Amino acid sequence: MVRAALAFTAVASFGSAVGRTLVDDKHSVYEPSLLLNELCQKIASSISDASDVYDAASVNYLEDISHWGVSSTQLAACSFEPGTPEDVGIALRILGETQTPFAVKGGGHTANPGFSSTTGVQIAMSRFCDVDYNPATQTVTFGAGLVWDDVYAALEPYEVNVVGGRVTGVGVAGFTLGGGYSWLTNQHGLTIDTVQAYELVMPNGTAINVTETSSPDIFFALKGGLNNFGIVTRFTLKTFSQGQIWGGVIFYPPTSLDEITKATANFVARNKDPKAAMITSYNYLAGVPEPTVIIFYDAPNMPDEIFDEFLAIPALNQGIGVSTRSYFDFVKCILIPPPRRIIFDSFSTTDYSLPFLERIVEEANSMAIDTLLNTTTFLNYDVEPFLPTLYTHNKTPSAYPPDRTRGFMPFEIYFAWELPVFDQVVQDAIRGTKETLQKYAIANGQSDANLAVYPNYAIFDTPLDKMYGANLPRLREIKKAVDPENVMGLAGGFRF
Ligand SMILES: Cc1cc2nc3c(=O)[nH]c(=O)nc-3n(C[C@H](O)[C@H](O)[C@H](O)COP(=O)(O)OP(=O)(O)OC[C@H]3O[C@@H](n4cnc5c(N)ncnc54)[C@H](O)[C@@H]3O)c2cc1C
Ligand SMILES: *[C@@H]1O[C@H](CO)[C@@H](O)[C@H](O)[C@H]1NC(C)=O
Ligand SMILES: *[C@@H]1O[C@H](CO)[C@@H](O)[C@H](O)[C@H]1NC(C)=O
Ligand SMILES: *[C@@H]1O[C@H](CO)[C@@H](O)[C@H](O)[C@H]1NC(C)=O
Repeated sequence: MVRAALAFTAVASFGSAVGRTLVDDKHSVYEPSLLLNELCQKIASSISDASDVYDAASVNYLEDISHWGVSSTQLAACSFEPGTPEDVGIALRILGETQTPFAVKGGGHTANPGFSSTTGVQIAMSRFCDVDYNPATQTVTFGAGLVWDDVYAALEPYEVNVVGGRVTGVGVAGFTLGGGYSWLTNQHGLTIDTVQAYELVMPNGTAINVTETSSPDIFFALKGGLNNFGIVTRFTLKTFSQGQIWGGVIFYPPTSLDEITKATANFVARNKDPKAAMITSYNYLAGVPEPTVIIFYDAPNMPDEIFDEFLAIPALNQGIGVSTRSYFDFVKCILIPPPRRIIFDSFSTTDYSLPFLERIVEEANSMAIDTLLNTTTFLNYDVEPFLPTLYTHNKTPSAYPPDRTRGFMPFEIYFAWELPVFDQVVQDAIRGTKETLQKYAIANGQSDANLAVYPNYAIFDTPLDKMYGANLPRLREIKKAVDPENVMGLAGGFRF
């Protein structure tokens, strides 16, 4: 999804089309049914002063229902901003008893419609915004309403960091509950590998702290199992010391596709240094290639050789963009302007050989022309290489990935468009392009049907066994024990 900003003409033309219409629904003021209205009133009169319920006329409501992509937003009957785990519990009990649909939103970055939005009660976690660093235990506890930028900003003065998001603005909650691929993953694993505790409001309304020793089953299930087991209010993560880093975003002209592809294949084949990470984004705006590469090295100085090939390719922002800076500054410069309608899809690979990358470019080029006719504004094929050792940093099992015995990498595809009438066409197109490339990768020994798909990149109807594999029966057992009434089934998302 890396569509880095600063970009030139591209951002101007794409950005102007963005507008900030919150939803594509024709109603200007949403009027919920009487029943839902009463339900919202009931929550409002049951909660403490730390929390509030808002109707469609309020500014808070608009903020609470809004998402990064408009296609992930729905008009809720009301929004609820809980300020304490107890109030989350009160609401969950009322919602469960009345069988009212609801949604939980962290940073609102899911591309899947209905996963963190609803026409029932929108729970927005924004009041859980504390960041509490504990130097003695080298951990940090932070609220589920934050974006990673907030956590990085709070930790920077202590020269420590967490394994979190790679670009600006992404929510901590969905990211962490789904897995979490970071610039630091080659060194420390996924975000879930660094979680020490979750503060969880169980579906029956009781709040508990979940650790590996206190509730091993729920701890396992929350590591990749998203919103199936309750509502998380706070995360406690391990911290790592963090100095200045070297890196940045490089924008290339359309004519550099071949050179970038060769440089990427060479990086994947040669890099052994866990401090080095990169993303090659094959972006297309209105059919025109806008390749972008982000390079990262976890030390103040440019590493020997690893990135030389990328630096030698003439760039549009030659000489600027890549520098020594703080980790937070680096993430802040990777700004992806919010598009309108969006969809992601993904499969996993064990390698990125030159022929495979060339096949990706060939496919992306042809899709860019094909979908142009159907008003798809923006296409992104993201190559996110990791070392084969990325899953060895933690030995305890987690819901995702179901198999840690071999290294694999999520390959992510992201399309953005303007008009709701094209939703189906574009969703079919992204499935088609994924299948084409997955077939190629499997036929050429770089993927197989058993490699788990990353839940946070997977399209909404991805079968659960494709993401959770052999863990699925255990996850279903835990789900039954934690949520016998299936309260969380009233919220959208991948359902166990
Ligand atoms: C621009 C962009 C960059 C990204 N970069 C990366 C990346 O570098 N690495 C990576 O791994 N992924 C990345 N992603 C994917 C990202 O992990 C998902 O989009 C994730 O859903 C974002 O979390 P959120 O809190 O913003 O989402 P939301 O839309 O708020 O929530 C997503 C899901 O989590 C559930 N949820 C949210 N809060 C809670 C809670 N408190 N308790 C229980 N369930 C909850 C929601 O119900 C929903 O099902 C990126 C996505 C985008 C759009
Ligand atoms: C919710 O479930 C937990 C664990 O099963 C239990 O300890 C707790 O008492 C339950 N809470 C309520 C309100 O029933
Ligand atoms: C979880 O632990 C923290 C720190 O010990 C504590 O402040 C908090 O109240 C606990 N939450 C619950 C729900 O027990
Ligand atoms: C574009 O639209 C045409 C006509 O509706 C359709 O036949 C074609 O499959 C679409 N192509 C893509 C890539 O969506």
